[in-house]
Amino acid sequence: DHFMLKEIFEQPETVAQTMQGRIKATPISPMKFGVPAVDKYLVPRVRLGGLVDYVSIIRRSRRIIFIACGTSYHAAMCSRQTVEELTQMPVGLELSGDVLDRRMPIFRDDTCVFVSQSGETADTMRAMEYAMESGALCVGITNTVGSAIARASHCGIHINAGAEIGVASTKAYTSQIVAITMMAIVLAEDQISKRTRIDEIVESMLDLPESLRMCLQLDESIKELAEGLKDESSLLVFGRGRNYATAVEAALKVKEVSYMHSEGINAGEMKHGPLALVDEFMPIIVIATMEDADMHNKMQGVIQQLMARSARLIILANDDDTEMTEIVQGKYPIVRVPRSDTAVQPILNIIPLQLLSYHLTLKRGHNVDQPRNLAKSVTVE
Ligand code: M6R
Repeated sequence: DHFMLKEIFEQPETVAQTMQGRIKATPISPMKFGVPAVDKYLVPRVRLGGLVDYVSIIRRSRRIIFIACGTSYHAAMCSRQTVEELTQMPVGLELSGDVLDRRMPIFRDDTCVFVSQSGETADTMRAMEYAMESGALCVGITNTVGSAIARASHCGIHINAGAEIGVASTKAYTSQIVAITMMAIVLAEDQISKRTRIDEIVESMLDLPESLRMCLQLDESIKELAEGLKDESSLLVFGRGRNYATAVEAALKVKEVSYMHSEGINAGEMKHGPLALVDEFMPIIVIATMEDADMHNKMQGVIQQLMARSARLIILANDDDTEMTEIVQGKYPIVRVPRSDTAVQPILNIIPLQLLSYHLTLKRGHNVDQPRNLAKSVTVE
């Protein structure tokens, strides 16, 4: 019925398109005698044609800085940890407009990665011109072949998600995360110590189309959830680690199309202010998938503290998380998503939240593809 819904439902195919011809299906570290085999020659698991000639320059840079706006900024925020984990390089994250406002120091041995669905966003383009003047290597990650950022950058990655028409960016977000994750893998492929980890991430990425299809089956239950939330004036979304990005991206989607106030909050910051907003009326979505044991424990703690304050919760958890069933005791709805690798899980987690923003908007009677005051490409500063 709408481009936004079409684009949400395209994601099993669009993430596959982003990976197509770039990821090798066979593991690089086959197990021999219970330990990963160390081959004489490193066989790369991922190949990104647009970066081939620049990989060694990026590896030698002082730092990598992701620069973007809106949803593209959130995609970089989400994948930054994977780049840090695999490359062990300092990785910065900046809003395009803020780079210019601060006249941020950028140096010739920096790599600046500009992420933009349209490739035409004025703030990101201006930030790239500024970084070019500083002599930094400029990498473009865009969805639009021939766009200003694709043409003016030194090298880059096309995310190949196909034209995105809905003003709310959905399929570009998941493909941007896939593209940045592939970039992290390419940068780490020279390190034998990272090969097993790369295999783990790649295996989960290859499962993505199927896992995304399972997430899309949540559509009907999310529609019901939206019915119960449609008259609210505010919605909070709590997440941490990579899922802090999921939280802020979900909140951006909700406010952008449904015009409901929404805020993504880092659950680690809860006690430093946001807890004052918690009562039995304020709806709060808590993203509590099993990132890793430590993160899962922390999120369980957050849920218990919120429950102690009679909060009105909606929990996002993995389908095999039985502990969550015990904690929640049937008091709150639990949205279940398939389990994946920590680097890939946020790609699944955002799907029910995109669907929620879509259904909230229809139920509130607004134009989901063309929200007021917004344009698909923000070509003015
Ligand atoms: O085309 P870009 O990715 O550079 O656009 C950046 C933002 O304007 C964009 O992501 C915006 O936040 C979306 N409408 C969010 O859904």
